[in-house]
Amino acid sequence: MSVDKSPAKISGMFDAIAGRYDLLNTVLSAGLDRYWRRRAIASLELTGRERLLDVCTGTADVAMAGARATRGAARVVGVDFAGAMLAHGVTKLRDKGLSDRVQLVRGDAMSLPVQAASVDAVTIAFGIRNVQQPEVACAELWRALKPGGRLAILEFGLPVFPAVRPLYLWYFNHVLPRIGRAVSKHTAAYDYLPQSVGSFPWGDAFARILTATGFSQVKARPLSLGIVYLYSAKKPEAGAGL
Ligand SMILES: C[S@@+](CC[C@H](N)C(=O)[O-])C[C@H]1O[C@@H](n2cnc3c(N)ncnc32)[C@H](O)[C@@H]1O
Repeated sequence: MSVDKSPAKISGMFDAIAGRYDLLNTVLSAGLDRYWRRRAIASLELTGRERLLDVCTGTADVAMAGARATRGAARVVGVDFAGAMLAHGVTKLRDKGLSDRVQLVRGDAMSLPVQAASVDAVTIAFGIRNVQQPEVACAELWRALKPGGRLAILEFGLPVFPAVRPLYLWYFNHVLPRIGRAVSKHTAAYDYLPQSVGSFPWGDAFARILTATGFSQVKARPLSLGIVYLYSAKKPEAGAGL
């Protein structure tokens, strides 16, 4: 199924649900979303000195997790093209006293507003499947990272045990959109969620895109039975062969 991922449609949809986005994340994932974000940050093995770029930052949960982790990033920049999502993020950063370490910038994942080789680590949580040309965004992540820099991407997948899939798909395709519609009052956003997941390459298929971009040490780890995947990778050190 082809899904419309034009920037105007995607940013408009997230702007429309921004006020209910955090609540729905927690409800629909039964609180697992915080654990998934923590795992992504932990995979970066931060030392406290890094500059972290969080792409598709939304309301800045990963950006905040990156700054608040033990030996968290020294500086974090979050990028997103949905202004209302960023506005909620700005309020959260102020409430948590993180405004001096975390900066939010409006921009597109396919043309990141950062200099080449300027960040030590990059994250995207539940954003890459929304990007019109994911390969272009992956090339942008590569460009932004310093040689030796690390990448962590979270995205939905399917349960690794085939026996669990029908039950999960029933929840994901039928129950989740109803709850999403009722809480967000948006008719299409939570129909779009399962459609976008169904049309996105996951597991080894997405790992191959990262490898083709030039990343090394690419790993696809299933979390929570595989309903989410954590992809980790490294930009090779300068001079190292691809
Ligand atoms: C599902 S939300 C994830 C937000 C956050 N990372 C989290 O974990 O909650 C996806 C976000 O990606 C943003 N997004 C999608 N495509 C984008 C693009 N091409 N450039 C910038 N932001 C994009 C949307 O505006 C939205 O805020």
